[in-house]
Amino acid sequence: MTDFLIAPSILSADFARLGQEVEDVLAAGADVVHFDVMDNHYVPNLTIGPMVCKALRKHGITAPIDVHLMVKPVDRLIGDFLEAGASIITFHPEASEHIDRSLQMIRDGGAQAGLVFNPATPLHHLDHVMDKVDVILLMSVNPGFGGQKFIPGTLAKLRAARERIKASGRDIRLEIDGGVGVGNIREIAEAGADMFVAGSAIFNAPGGAQGYAAVIRDMRA
Ligand code: DX5
Ligand code: ZN
Repeated sequence: MTDFLIAPSILSADFARLGQEVEDVLAAGADVVHFDVMDNHYVPNLTIGPMVCKALRKHGITAPIDVHLMVKPVDRLIGDFLEAGASIITFHPEASEHIDRSLQMIRDGGAQAGLVFNPATPLHHLDHVMDKVDVILLMSVNPGFGGQKFIPGTLAKLRAARERIKASGRDIRLEIDGGVGVGNIREIAEAGADMFVAGSAIFNAPGGAQGYAAVIRDMRA
């Protein structure tokens, strides 16, 4: 049986109460904390950096933290996030001058490494680095904002990525990010994803922390 991971994106959390929000969403059944880093350069929005990751660790969060770098350049932030307690670090191949080196830096630092593919970015960036990738993250929206609509063409791309993983014989996570919710998670899972990022679907649920648990339970079901 496949084990599915639910990774709430804290982009949609209440940043004024971030520590509590992360505790609540983990208590509600989340597996991984998805941490969106935006630089107002690679993407047109500005969010949080290594200091906030470190603060969550200091707050006592021990769950895996999945750092999604939407920044350019990439490499300088890798060391900072390793030091801040990141468990997984993914980056966009277009944003790195040296994809192999960036992946290796992440792995050398003891974290899991991954590449992120925008809706129009081809999967061929995986060709020569499959052995250094622990996670493949497919964007099902254009990066930069939460609350966008899932782009249906991503389902075919998920199947293609799943085929690549099978052919590699390696244990690689297939993560999906953007517009994921209770209404479409089944077809996304059937297309091959096994790690599901959801921001607005979870954090905008009515009923606060209890609402988070209901959405996560429904997503899992
Ligand atoms: C978008 C981010 C996503 C975003 C997902 O650039 O990478 O993680 O928060 O938000 P929803 O689930 O609301 O589409
Ligand atoms: Zn993300």
